[in-house]
Amino acid sequence: MKVVTFVNMKGGVGKTTVAVNVADALARRHDKRVLIVDVDPQFNATQCLYSGDDYVEMRADPTTHTIFDLFNDGVIPVVSPISGISETEPLDVEDIRPWKYRDNLHILAGNLEIYRLDMAPGSGRELRLKRYVEALAKADVYDYVVIDTPPTPSTFMTSAILASDYYVIPVRPEPLSRVGIDLLTGVIARVIKNHGHKIENAGVVLTMMDARTTVYYDALSFLDSDEKWAGKRFKTVLPQRTQIAKNQGDQRLILDSNKEDAKRAIAGITNELLERVGDDGI
Ligand SMILES: Nc1ncnc2c1ncn2[C@@H]1O[C@H](COP(=O)(O)OP(=O)(O)OP(=O)(O)O)[C@@H](O)[C@H]1O
Ligand SMILES: [Mg+2]
Repeated sequence: MKVVTFVNMKGGVGKTTVAVNVADALARRHDKRVLIVDVDPQFNATQCLYSGDDYVEMRADPTTHTIFDLFNDGVIPVVSPISGISETEPLDVEDIRPWKYRDNLHILAGNLEIYRLDMAPGSGRELRLKRYVEALAKADVYDYVVIDTPPTPSTFMTSAILASDYYVIPVRPEPLSRVGIDLLTGVIARVIKNHGHKIENAGVVLTMMDARTTVYYDALSFLDSDEKWAGKRFKTVLPQRTQIAKNQGDQRLILDSNKEDAKRAIAGITNELLERVGDDGI
């Protein structure tokens, strides 16, 4: 089992779009058993798969869980204006049950209420996701765990990094993107140092590409010439297409759309990811 986090400290760069659609392609085109973990309190990855109504319905099933149940270790009581004081018994990580979206595509759905948990570093909560993926690896139920993260440095982001073998950086070609990815590698280096955790950079995916703009070519030449980034760039680039954003609002995945170039891009990015993480069972 391989655990891959999609991360960038910059917001709105396509992290969620790439994470969810690559997870879908791994399951659909490569027959992998895939779990998406949505650690972003905005829970956009979850909303790519479930409408508001479907989400409410899924949440009502007491036999399945969300990221809240994972991070809620019960040490501190949780007060919510919706459900009052939480009386949920903390679960062992082995007992967390994600939602089944399709046969081999599952999701540990996001939950806004994780905002209410005390996620202070050192509380131990930042290691719960790591413990969970270790339990999943032992049970051999997934080939890939794909983690979507929030854009802010937080215990949620740290917990994703600590649980992962690899990270992929989606980057939107724009003038400030190089500052963002340099900052990100600093944050990751600190996590590695503080926790002694090993994680590998599986590369940089350019998203929302508009080939008519000079910022795109600037981004290409920066990534290819900079010592730290040379060889890290995925050859396949996700083009900018308004339809992608529109479809997301209707829970339509890119492989189900009629945007052939975007479908090819998702297939290509997924193939490259498999190569970069040393998966030859393509
Ligand atoms: N290739 C694309 N073409 C056009 N729109 C896109 C493309 N990729 C993503 N979008 C849209 O851009 C917005 C931001 O994308 P997305 O949510 O994937 O970014 P993010 O990095 O996860 O954002 P956040 O930091 O808020 O989590 C969304 O509305 C999404 O539908
Ligand atoms: Mg996102």
